[in-house]
Amino acid sequence: MKISVQINEKRVLGKRSPMIYGHFIEHFHRQIYGGIYDPGHPLADEDGFRTDILEAMRKIKVPVLRWPGGCFVSAYHWKDGVGKHRTPSFDKAWRVEEPNTFGTDEYIKLCRKIGCEPYICTNAGTGTAEEMSDWAEYCNLESEGKYAKWRVENGNPQPYGVKYWSVGNENYGSWEMGAKSADEWGRLVREAAKMIRRVDPGVELSAAALPDVDWNINLLKNCGQNLDWLSIHEYWDMMAQENNPANYEQCMAYTDRIDHSAEEVRGILKAMRLEGKIKIAFDEWNLRSWHHPNVHTVKQGVQKADYLTPRDKNDDNSTYTMADAVFTACFLNAMNRNCDIVGMANFAPILNTRGCIYSDKEGIVLRSTYHVFDLYVNHMGDTIVDLWAEAVPKMKVTGKDGKERTVKVLDMLATTWSDRPGLAIAVANKHREKSFSVVLPVGRGGEKVTVYRLNGKSEDSYNDVGRTEVVIQEEELGVYQEGMEVPVGPHSVNVIVIK
Ligand code: AHR
Repeated sequence: MKISVQINEKRVLGKRSPMIYGHFIEHFHRQIYGGIYDPGHPLADEDGFRTDILEAMRKIKVPVLRWPGGCFVSAYHWKDGVGKHRTPSFDKAWRVEEPNTFGTDEYIKLCRKIGCEPYICTNAGTGTAEEMSDWAEYCNLESEGKYAKWRVENGNPQPYGVKYWSVGNENYGSWEMGAKSADEWGRLVREAAKMIRRVDPGVELSAAALPDVDWNINLLKNCGQNLDWLSIHEYWDMMAQENNPANYEQCMAYTDRIDHSAEEVRGILKAMRLEGKIKIAFDEWNLRSWHHPNVHTVKQGVQKADYLTPRDKNDDNSTYTMADAVFTACFLNAMNRNCDIVGMANFAPILNTRGCIYSDKEGIVLRSTYHVFDLYVNHMGDTIVDLWAEAVPKMKVTGKDGKERTVKVLDMLATTWSDRPGLAIAVANKHREKSFSVVLPVGRGGEKVTVYRLNGKSEDSYNDVGRTEVVIQEEELGVYQEGMEVPVGPHSVNVIVIK
């Protein structure tokens, strides 16, 4: 079936920040220890970072890396993780010992090696406004006061200049250590924002928010003038307690109204006359929620095997199929379309657990989602232009909840570059069996057409150790012809580049 697309390059929807291709890493399972930070590993560099993982992170040009949590941060005291002597602490969020050998200095070093912006999420659970602002002193003051002096003593004379700070993580949730009521939250964020800005007025601050009116109105009434971002999180295939991945069709059902959170928060900001002043940092998102049973519902008699061992199930690479790739492309398209209000998005997490990169002692596996980031970061433009297609067919899909939804079979995005000629069109084909031919718009001549196709043999294809099923194939289609047709296969993510 042919799908003709019309593109108006003069109708610019916005210029997206590179930070919508951001990532997140948490002190959970094998993301940090035995993941990126593995001193003594044959592939570790002089600072203990896995060089194979660093290289993969650089290839997708990670623009910003949020750390150290996530639930972990809501009982984390940053001072335990700096200095010559690190004392292990008990991580009450994930019920494991935190060795504290990876702390702020190691994190900043990691960001420098990747070439990304640091984004520190502070402890607004058991922490105080003072502890949060002391962290900003440690990172951003030259040498004034004991915390900046401490950084210098620890061998880091230059301030780190951490620009992005988040007050808290999901403190609205009962699962968080030190959870807060809407009232408490607004006041704590106001005080924390005040003190952090007294340390460094140049920082950009976000605070944990929800697509929920009460929570956000309280937050924004108390300190809307002091915030630059609202932090929003979303996982769709909820598997914290039961590791039962949604199948392909159920995952396509999750693409229905994929941008609802951004739209709802946009509405609240508009009502509060803060649209344009405050942006959305979608700083935790993933189709699949992390599997960590029983940790929030501690019952008598729950053994370590009931809550620690099951975390290894996140490492099952067969979970991450073309469903994850197609969903990820649809989400990134939505973030691009909402780039006037979404300024950052962080895939949760980047490494291991549900990440786009899997590592073990031998090496790494690039999961299907990694290749979507590769396509978007390396082949899509920074300027979102208007694309429409009259006759995109729809299909009915049934969600994991048993409810039927109707979704368009193609999710498309058109982009140009602000600094060079060319056009790049992303096309996610959600259909499990059907191919389509995208008929390119008229009005271009003499340019070369290249298509990058991410796919596998079936919708359930995945990559694993010794198994590479999901790959990007590049095809040169020659010089642009009016009405040129570009086939896109079932369950695929495609980027058509005309330049
Ligand atoms: O499942 C991981 C957790 O999801 C993160 O630590 C938290 O921020 C979110 O609830």
